[in-house]
Amino acid sequence: MRKAVCPGSYDPVTNGHLDVFVRAAAVFDQVVVAVLINKTKSSLFTVDERIEMLREVVAPYPNVVVDSFHGLLVDYCKTNDIPAIVKGLRAVSDFDYELQMAQMNHRLAGVETFFISTNPLYSYLSSSLIKEIATYGGDITGLTPESVRTRLYERVAEREH
Ligand code: PNS
Repeated sequence: MRKAVCPGSYDPVTNGHLDVFVRAAAVFDQVVVAVLINKTKSSLFTVDERIEMLREVVAPYPNVVVDSFHGLLVDYCKTNDIPAIVKGLRAVSDFDYELQMAQMNHRLAGVETFFISTNPLYSYLSSSLIKEIATYGGDITGLTPESVRTRLYERVAEREH
């Protein structure tokens, strides 16, 4: 079975992420969406909440599963017998860092990285921008799955009280 991992923070998942998962799932037998557990980075949603939202949105795709990991991505790949990483590339600004990580992951463990060119509809999306817009009451319709949009507005409102 050809497996690939789509690693990230997913705080929260956007339609841009989902587009990458679905396109990767058309090429690989199984796609593992792996949420990084990063205790040093502050997040709006807990890892469990992010996993729950991800599981909801990938439910229609039987070969996409959700998991979490901590430590090095290549160690997660080794433990789970995953030879490939799939990332979305939004713009040239993503490229330098993504190339550096891809080369390092290959150097560390021979894990290959495949880049999917982001759908231009979503090339300007990022979880941070979406959180900022939601925080100030802006309209994020169409930028995240519906269930995520609802939770985002709820969380932002909770934070205000
Ligand atoms: O969504 P993000 O936060 O941009 O995702 C970054 C992520 C999780 C893909 C990257 O930080 C990562 O792979 N972290 C795991 C630690 C690791 O393996 N670091 C060495 C990278 S060469």
